[in-house]
Amino acid sequence: MSMDTDPPAEGLPAGFHRRDPAERRAALTRAFGLDPGEAQALTPSLSNMELAEVMIESAVGCAPVPLGVATGFLIDGRELAVPMAVEEPSVIAAASYAARLLRRDGGFTTWAAQPVMSAQLYIQDAPEGAEERVAGVEDEARAALSGLLASLERRGGGFRGMRARRLRGSGTLRVDLLLDVRDAMGANILNTAAEALRPLLERTAGGRVLMAILTNQAAERLAGARFSIPAARLAARLPAGMSPEEAARRVAAASELAQEDPARAVTHNKGIMNGITSLALATMNDTRAVEAAAHAWACRDGAYRGLSRFRVEGGVLTGELELPLALAAAGGSVGFHPAARGCLKVMGNPDAPGLARIAAALGLAQNFAAVLALVTTGIQAGHMRLHAARLAYEAGARGADIRRVADQMSREGSVTRAAAQALLRREGRPG
Ligand code: MEV
Repeated sequence: MSMDTDPPAEGLPAGFHRRDPAERRAALTRAFGLDPGEAQALTPSLSNMELAEVMIESAVGCAPVPLGVATGFLIDGRELAVPMAVEEPSVIAAASYAARLLRRDGGFTTWAAQPVMSAQLYIQDAPEGAEERVAGVEDEARAALSGLLASLERRGGGFRGMRARRLRGSGTLRVDLLLDVRDAMGANILNTAAEALRPLLERTAGGRVLMAILTNQAAERLAGARFSIPAARLAARLPAGMSPEEAARRVAAASELAQEDPARAVTHNKGIMNGITSLALATMNDTRAVEAAAHAWACRDGAYRGLSRFRVEGGVLTGELELPLALAAAGGSVGFHPAARGCLKVMGNPDAPGLARIAAALGLAQNFAAVLALVTTGIQAGHMRLHAARLAYEAGARGADIRRVADQMSREGSVTRAAAQALLRREGRPG
């Protein structure tokens, strides 16, 4: 939303949003004292800057979140590499580890519902009987939207119904408009269609529409993934004296804790979203919408719970995850940005339900890797190995020296910036 009457933000010149991106970046650098390294890191190539400029307002550059690829996935019998954009070390390594561990036993089985989403029109002061009157104009509403939805209908999507109910607290009439949005996330078409129904619904209900907007709850658009492996497969990377059966039992116990205790459930789910959000970001999906839906789903019965469950039966460990996943495979930023299109290509250009299925498998892999590490060796050992590379970089190591110094620090058991500097100095390198 551009606001020409905006007072200048603290430190930024008036009319900041009307300047060109290089001027904006220079103003930002001056106003907030960015050092040359910081300013340079925000500066994208010319083509990325042009894309940024048409995607958002007041663009100054691109936030260079690393993009990587998790490998080793077998999903519904298909081998797959999964692009992930993420700043946290060890996330991609963990997903790939779980994917490889599970692939021998068939990898992941996944499922996804049709991409049906809804928008709500909230109508105030609607007299009694409005619910029934609104239900009576469903065909008229469908006809009113036929032009708008024609192209969606040609692709197999479109109008899927309308329902009305009274909210108990405020007495507001809530009308849900349901659309199958095919490969889109659906926000634009839902919002446009809901707004187009305002006059008909106000006339029919006899009240005034307060607002019309999609819900990101996406409760109809569920996707899930499952795996099963013999507990014996967990034999690698266990602490001395722990059997694989005991490791599997501990994984299941951790998942029950996430059902019982919200403090644990939030972090358990954060681990799942490490995977799902990274894929959403790599494909330029709306990460906030995906996160909001996931957390709402996690407390759908009133208590916040883990989204996944692990169980052991007859020596077999099974993991399962299901959640709403309103991921687009076309349209919006996903279809617009070449980086997103490239990431979709890496996965064989899935449709929206296909992408949701991959996301569910990735979330479950990520979650399983984290929980398995937590209940066996702990996660810090793995984290510190990757953290060591950052410290080596900060200490001045470059190129092949980064990995070498990091490995040396891990071997010596002292992973600090001072240790990295000392190692570099010992070798006569700047540190
Ligand atoms: C860290 O990003 C994610 C974990 O905390 C997830 C979990 O605790 O299950 C390791």
